[in-house]
Amino acid sequence: MPAPRLRPTLVLRNAAVATCDAGPSDAGLLAGAAVAVDERLVGWVGPEVDLERACDLDGARVLDAGGRLVTPGLVDSHTHLVFGDRGERAEEFAARAAGRGYLETSRSGGGIAATVAATRAASDEALLAAAEQRAMRLLSQGVTTVEVKSGYGLSAAEELRLLRVVHELARRLWDRLAVVPTLLAGHAVPAERAGDRAGWIREVAESVVPAAARERLAVFCDAFPEEGALSLDEARAVLGAGKAHGLVPRLHADQLSRVGGAELAAELGCAGADHLEQVDEAGIAALARAGVVAGLLPVSTLFLRLPAFAPGRRLLDAGVPVAVATNVNPGSAMSENPSLALSLACLGNGLTPAEALVAFTAGGAHSLRLPEVGRLAPGMQADLVLWGCRSLEHLAWHMGTSHALLVVKRGRVAHRADPGTAADCAGV
Ligand code: NIG
Repeated sequence: MPAPRLRPTLVLRNAAVATCDAGPSDAGLLAGAAVAVDERLVGWVGPEVDLERACDLDGARVLDAGGRLVTPGLVDSHTHLVFGDRGERAEEFAARAAGRGYLETSRSGGGIAATVAATRAASDEALLAAAEQRAMRLLSQGVTTVEVKSGYGLSAAEELRLLRVVHELARRLWDRLAVVPTLLAGHAVPAERAGDRAGWIREVAESVVPAAARERLAVFCDAFPEEGALSLDEARAVLGAGKAHGLVPRLHADQLSRVGGAELAAELGCAGADHLEQVDEAGIAALARAGVVAGLLPVSTLFLRLPAFAPGRRLLDAGVPVAVATNVNPGSAMSENPSLALSLACLGNGLTPAEALVAFTAGGAHSLRLPEVGRLAPGMQADLVLWGCRSLEHLAWHMGTSHALLVVKRGRVAHRADPGTAADCAGV
């Protein structure tokens, strides 16, 4: 007896499907293919010619992709979406364009401290409204899962307030965009605690972390060991407390200087070590041994005018799992543009377009420890994007441009581009 045919709810047929399920350097491309969605899950993926043998299309919503590219939804594994709107740092950007460095700005009271002041002054409603707009821009460009950090509150009450805002954001968006919350109280030492660094770190470890864990406000705990932020030992103390309370550690590692972030991430078993512009071979080897996902954030490398991009090629060749993310934040990457990040991962980090796409889908899911998203295969969550182009090379080549025509979250249409708002280059 033939196996009963699947009765899908949604089908995208006549597509170039990149499953992102064939390893870090292979996008798993199937030309002339279809994806069948069974309620919230992927039910079937395969050649178009087999579609009607595998699926009973009666009752299904069937969309002809016209040869366009279909991929898993993008998984953006590093953002700081919640910050006060008055934390605009455009003048910092202008100063940097004129040659002023990021650390110089931070030392003179700008940088993270400027956004902390603006964020503390903003109401919950204002923070939420601004974060929601930023999140919608990501969704409209193909992001179906996003990690969101606190980190601009930097007092016990403010960090917990920001996490509650993240929770409300997640609640509002749950059917369109999944939000993964991260406690980043270890972003810096607040100015008013400069004379009491140890006290601040103790408070984070003994009060903020336990409260965030108790109220289930965060999945991850993050820190930023760097000149002007935390020392390596302070970051170790914060993430150690996070682990003790069940929060998964992740780290801003070796962004501006080689402080040993990669080794700390390996020592603590972090899910992700992000940035890594300054990492060297020893750090790469440590990440490879520990299986830590390297997060490439090339928009911030460009935005900060750093001398070199993170060595994405060397990381991949050494067997380190790699993710690409936007790092949306007001100081080092004011851009909700995954397309730009994807292209820069090729041009700056040395990935191929296929590797960059896999890193922005399966890689992001790996970094956030979400095995159910980031790949298109039966049983995976049906998060997918129909792009207005025929190849993944086009996606990386046509830089900084949204091609997301249709975004599907858990089997339902979460975003459809208004005519003319996303590029449809399938005919050219
Ligand atoms: O991930 N590096 C630390 N945190 C942010 C920048 C924060 C800021 O400048 O406001 C980042 O790049």
